[in-house]
Amino acid sequence: MLKHLATAAILALALPSGAALAAEEGGHHIENVDFSFDGPFGSYDRNQLQRGLQVYTQVCSACHGLQYLTYRALGEEGGPDLPEDQVRAYAAGFEVFDQSLADGAGDFRPATPTDHFNKSSLANAPDLTLMAKARAGFHGPYGLGINQFFKGIGGPEYIHAILTSYTGETREQAGTTLYENTAFPSGWIAMPQPLYGEDVEFADGAPNDLDSISTDVSAFLMWTAEPKLMARKQAGFVGVMMLALLAALLYFTNKRIWAPVKHPERRQTPAE
Ligand code: HEC
Repeated sequence: MLKHLATAAILALALPSGAALAAEEGGHHIENVDFSFDGPFGSYDRNQLQRGLQVYTQVCSACHGLQYLTYRALGEEGGPDLPEDQVRAYAAGFEVFDQSLADGAGDFRPATPTDHFNKSSLANAPDLTLMAKARAGFHGPYGLGINQFFKGIGGPEYIHAILTSYTGETREQAGTTLYENTAFPSGWIAMPQPLYGEDVEFADGAPNDLDSISTDVSAFLMWTAEPKLMARKQAGFVGVMMLALLAALLYFTNKRIWAPVKHPERRQTPAE
């Protein structure tokens, strides 16, 4: 009887998910990418984040902003971890509007590490700071989130897929040019293909083909969206260890408390 029940339960679980996986193939397709920060023990790769910052700065920042990120965050441990003088020099390369200058009239001045990155300069280009958490690459099946449970939410995978899924087809719609992109939900995106490969040169000689630089900038955007990921994972790990210890203590305490009831023959009369 139990065996039959178990088989039925396994079948019931397995069948719908198999069907849904097949159905998902029909929609836009997002490939899983092996990021260094995947999994419970994953962490950001400092060099990759620095390369991603370079791709963002040289290509994406022409249209997109990172308005929720401060320059000083680039020096944080666990992030791109730039030395302080480099953070200063990087910030000084940008200008911010400061209302307190010129007797309240406001003027532009070079940015300092405490300033935020600029907003998007192109009106219809969304800010990218939180994009990796705002989009999901993996869904279902049927809203159960089983794919997300195994592969993660898939935000950086989604960005990687967007950057690598242009077909080269374009079409005009209401005065704007749309570019065919098989990863974008509607299939046609208003962003012209930003990366082709070899768009940037890395000082460390890391590969700069389309797939590699798309992965680097996606990893960087995951960091901008979740800069404390590593601290969060560490705290979670400590929490799980404490709970495991507590569970073991509770188990043995429980055994001890009920021992006289379960094994009355072993009960010892208190020494007189
Ligand atoms: C020429 C300007 C331009 C450049 C350069 C550019 N983008 Fe975009 N991007 C856009 C526009 C416009 C949109 C809005 C597209 C839409 O909603 O159809 C967009 C949208 C996006 C989206 C959101 C897609 C979504 O699901 O809404 C992501 C992610 C993105 N860009 C990433 C990047 C990255 C990463 C780079 C650098 C490698 C980059 N973009 C460079 C103009 C640009």
